[in-house]
Amino acid sequence: MSDTQVSWSSVRDRIHHDPAVAMLNTGSWGLVPRSVFARVTALRQELAAGPTDFFLRRLPDRLWDAREQTARFLGTTPQRFVFSVNVSSAINLIAAGLPLAGPGEILMSDHEYGCMVWCWERAAKRRGLEPRSFTLPRLPSDPEEIVDAAVAAMTLRTKLLFFSHVLSPTGMVLPAKRLCAEARQRGILTVVDGAHAPGMLPLAVDDVGADFYTANLHKWLLAPTGAGFLTLGPGQEDRLEPLHVSWGYYADRYPIGDTRASHGPDDRDAYGSTPRTRFLEFEASRDICPWLVVPDAIQFQTELGWLRIRQRIAELAAYTRSAIGERFHLPLATPAAPDLHGAMTAFAIPDRWGDSVHLRRRLWEAHIEVPIIDRPDRRLLRVSHHFYTLEAEIDRLAAVLATLPH
Ligand SMILES: Cc1ncc(COP(=O)(O)O)c(C=O)c1O
Repeated sequence: MSDTQVSWSSVRDRIHHDPAVAMLNTGSWGLVPRSVFARVTALRQELAAGPTDFFLRRLPDRLWDAREQTARFLGTTPQRFVFSVNVSSAINLIAAGLPLAGPGEILMSDHEYGCMVWCWERAAKRRGLEPRSFTLPRLPSDPEEIVDAAVAAMTLRTKLLFFSHVLSPTGMVLPAKRLCAEARQRGILTVVDGAHAPGMLPLAVDDVGADFYTANLHKWLLAPTGAGFLTLGPGQEDRLEPLHVSWGYYADRYPIGDTRASHGPDDRDAYGSTPRTRFLEFEASRDICPWLVVPDAIQFQTELGWLRIRQRIAELAAYTRSAIGERFHLPLATPAAPDLHGAMTAFAIPDRWGDSVHLRRRLWEAHIEVPIIDRPDRRLLRVSHHFYTLEAEIDRLAAVLATLPH
């Protein structure tokens, strides 16, 4: 073992994990660092012991700090940053709250996350619009191939473009900034599903130039589940209706006597928000402790060093391509070009390995957590390799694959 491997396995001890399980599914949920878990648990103890004091007096400054630090880390501003429970709730808010009107169409790629497609299908139906998808190139070697496919699909009828920054089934990274620029030139609104981007990619949200950027913080950033966000791009500050009408609905009516009543929609208020963010974000009595510890999760990886993390992820991607793909002659479903992949590598797997239900069971019986994804045209095995993934876990997957028919 090299020194690097020794130090990465010791890092794993600082993160909650089940040592019996080969955890190759950060793409669904990340593991939570012990320091982050301890802090969220301490906050929940405070909340349990004194809920009124917690919500009314202790929470506002903490919420503002979390908003400021998280927004700064992600390359956006606190005044445009709205926390959400997860990326699904952020996209639901936009799909339900954006005043779009037909006729026209909502365009998306053919690799979007299933229930997010349903979300846009419902929005389209309610508004007299048509949902339409375009085919992404399977294994591009240049991001411009993706831009060309998207641009060729845009028409005068296209009102909104929805796409993932990192595709869920394959882990392919889309050129989000280029896609948003092309859409903008044509007067098309953009909503980006950045579920996987924070913590996986060096993300600068405002630089992407989306009208609405949404993401999860519980995947690659390693915050506890319950933390996601959306941002409001230039010109979109006042377009959304909230999903949930609560005390943020009327900014000028303060239920608890706001002694720091704000003056404008972007001024910090007494609740750790601004009138604008609170309008969309506040959903009554909810446990928002996961939001408050996002800075702790950022701090955890910042201390490890982002450059070092990215190098480790690239090393593991190469290892996965060789130990799984090359060894079993599996076609790659994730481009190997550095700007087209991150920390997930997927392979097309043969039918002779059985259906997905059977295969998932077989893998889980061996304590391997890795998704098998049925696509219309092929079945995929998707390996997530965050910095804490060990080569030994990928080898355990390989050992099970070696027992399947060849
Ligand atoms: C691209 C993408 N969008 C949306 C989601 C939904 O995430 P959540 O359940 O945290 O809202 C996922 C989950 O894996 C995803 O990969």
